[in-house]
Amino acid sequence: MRDRAFVSEIAADTYRITTYHEPWRSTVNQYLILGEEPLLISTGLRERFEDTWAGLAQLLDPTTLRYVVVPHYEADECGALNELLLRAPNATPLASMRTVVTSLADAAVRSPRGLGDGEVVDVGAHGLRMLEAPYVHAWDGIVIVDERTQVAFTADLFIQPGRGEALVRDDRSALSVQLYKTFYGAPPDAYLHRALDRIEVAHPTMLAPGHGAALAGNLAPYYRAYRALAGEQRAAREATTPSSSLRKSAGS
Ligand SMILES: [Fe+2]
Ligand SMILES: [Fe+2]
Repeated sequence: MRDRAFVSEIAADTYRITTYHEPWRSTVNQYLILGEEPLLISTGLRERFEDTWAGLAQLLDPTTLRYVVVPHYEADECGALNELLLRAPNATPLASMRTVVTSLADAAVRSPRGLGDGEVVDVGAHGLRMLEAPYVHAWDGIVIVDERTQVAFTADLFIQPGRGEALVRDDRSALSVQLYKTFYGAPPDAYLHRALDRIEVAHPTMLAPGHGAALAGNLAPYYRAYRALAGEQRAAREATTPSSSLRKSAGS
């Protein structure tokens, strides 16, 4: 028998709704921000839609959802989008322009709204800023920062394995980078540094990834560990790239 969805409050008005996905040995997390205009970040997998819907129903009437954010176009981030839109008549999909133009404009049963880089979506008491973070895992990826709670919703950055707790404060950075490498390999280092720069400047008090626990406490080890991964990627690339002098002589 499979698990139901588990619901936990992780910050003011902010809830993690999660299902465990055995093939990935990790959770798939959705985040709900309650307010005048309730907003959901990620829909979860289509096959778990009924569980996710039941989890949402513990917190609000899910048919009143106003926005659904798609962090990038993949099954765990938006596989259940259309099922959800068909039941929540006022929910508008929000995503990066890249995601909208290349996928959602055609794939979603309701017209999505593309967000500009840095745009803030006002949902009442919370302002949610969208930051583009392309090629960090997905080419169309974004990070969302809640300017009120200072929670950063980072999708597939800072993920961890296991069923785990909803929120942890101990350092799981090594485990996180290990899982990230296993799933996605090494991302282009410049893009990863840029995404980390943008997240760090926002001074989040919590990192809320799409898989694993939300992370609070000292977040510096996570930034260090992912920057070290970017460094590894750069060193590996330089080791396999001919030096400029070799290139010159090859061309002469
Ligand atoms: Fe993803
Ligand atoms: Fe994901």
